[in-house]
Amino acid sequence: MTSDTFIASIDQGTTSSRCIIFGHDGKPVGSAQKEHEQIFPRAGWVEHDAEEIWVNVREVVGAALGNADVKAEDIAAVGITNQRETTLVWDRTTGKPVYNAIVWQDTRTDELCTRLAGDMGTDRYQHITGLPLSTYFAGPKIRWILDNVDGVRERAEAGELCFGTMDSWVLWNLTGGTDGGIHVTDVTNASRTLLMDLETLQWREDICADFDIPVSMLPEIRTSSEIYGEVRPKGVLAGVPIAGILGDQQAATFGQACLEPGEAKNTYGTGNFLLLNTGTTPVRSEHGLLTTVCYKLGDKDTVYALEGSVAVTGSLVQWLRDNLGIIKNAKDIEDLAGTVEDNGGVYFVPAFSGLFAPRWRPDARGVISGLTRFANKGHIARAALEATAFQTREVIDAMRADSDVELTTLKVDGGMVVNELLMQFQSDILGVPVVRPVVNETTALGAAYAAGLAVDYWSGEDDIRANWSDDKTWEPDLDPTVRDEMYARWNRAVERTYDSA
Ligand SMILES: Nc1ncnc2c1ncn2[C@@H]1O[C@H](COP(=O)(O)OP(=O)(O)OP(=O)(O)O)[C@@H](O)[C@H]1O
Ligand SMILES: [Mg+2]
Repeated sequence: MTSDTFIASIDQGTTSSRCIIFGHDGKPVGSAQKEHEQIFPRAGWVEHDAEEIWVNVREVVGAALGNADVKAEDIAAVGITNQRETTLVWDRTTGKPVYNAIVWQDTRTDELCTRLAGDMGTDRYQHITGLPLSTYFAGPKIRWILDNVDGVRERAEAGELCFGTMDSWVLWNLTGGTDGGIHVTDVTNASRTLLMDLETLQWREDICADFDIPVSMLPEIRTSSEIYGEVRPKGVLAGVPIAGILGDQQAATFGQACLEPGEAKNTYGTGNFLLLNTGTTPVRSEHGLLTTVCYKLGDKDTVYALEGSVAVTGSLVQWLRDNLGIIKNAKDIEDLAGTVEDNGGVYFVPAFSGLFAPRWRPDARGVISGLTRFANKGHIARAALEATAFQTREVIDAMRADSDVELTTLKVDGGMVVNELLMQFQSDILGVPVVRPVVNETTALGAAYAAGLAVDYWSGEDDIRANWSDDKTWEPDLDPTVRDEMYARWNRAVERTYDSA
């Protein structure tokens, strides 16, 4: 490939859709981004309008090309990465969704999950899927749509409907939609449904039967790096091959060059997601982590990961902005938190969607503890930032317990890592250095790599390693007794969130 060609990466995220154009050196040359509406029909429910998202995706692709001053002919391939688990069912003939997309944070399937667990418990499918039965994953959300939207079960059984996560929705539309759109997903997204066997990488008909989901509505499972089809019939990228799909957290792991067993990254976005590459055998967790597919590049062996998913981190900053109004913009939280010397004894456990890893407590709800007449909004802001770091510490403790890997540094990325106060506290509470790479848009970058490798734009994983470089490192600087005391108080606050749903 000539050096004046590029890879376009579409990042369909929880809060926004982005398109970033990357060059050979893995640096962005242009981008565009658009937020979409967060729909909260009632407590615990979170939805997106999938048609709005598709409009936004097309818009940001066009705008990113313009911003990079690059023509469609100069794009060698397109990669797709996406918010995972967010569940959509649409009609193959009309292209219309039958219901809004149900977002990964949505807890409406709580009771359904309890029913499916029955006497066998929430670990019923863990040995097959690597996952506990939880509202987080796509399978129960599909079942909810089949049970609760009029006429949908009949239409699904008649083969009229498609299920997909947002990767599938974007790909189907890009490849022609009702006119021959391709209905596939990749192994990483499929591994988040509770319906895929981690070893065979195929749908499990027995689990689908337990869930009462017709297998015919599921997309075909493909690898993360291969040519799925090309953009058609017309539109800005017509004729360009789509050659990579990775769920957003796996994409960030790939983009951070965590390519060897023992390498890990933590992404600080809407939630936090720490993934540890465990190599070509899936490692089963005994401490509340998920086993998931990290990536599969074409015919190469499948690479697995252990994952600690935390539901609420950056979205707590948004909550302080939108629901409390104590900041105007997300970045203002750093200055507000900096108005106080320490948290003043205030701990904020944002269990808005229950608690995910490592505790998996759907019955938990948020708590602010340690309030006194002294506490002010600075303390609340500080406690909110510290919550992100404490939740990360819990996940890392679980990872240490599950694997022999000793963490020496933590690679970080995502929207929150521009926050220096948070990064310093993260290093303090972990007792290890925290390092941020030059290209912080690792999610989009990882999907670009997956696509670029499939079309020989990059020749191999060594190119990814060579392109990675560090920007800034934070070293721990907190008295270990203070650290342990704070962590103990955090743990007491977490226990107060239980039995509150
Ligand atoms: N300076 C900041 N300090 C703390 N949090 C911040 C700051 N700037 C942004 N955030 C938070 O970062 C999050 C956005 O990060 P990012 O764009 O990586 O999220 P994301 O989860 O990838 O979203 P999406 O799923 O839409 O891609 C928001 O929740 C926002 O509140
Ligand atoms: Mg993202």
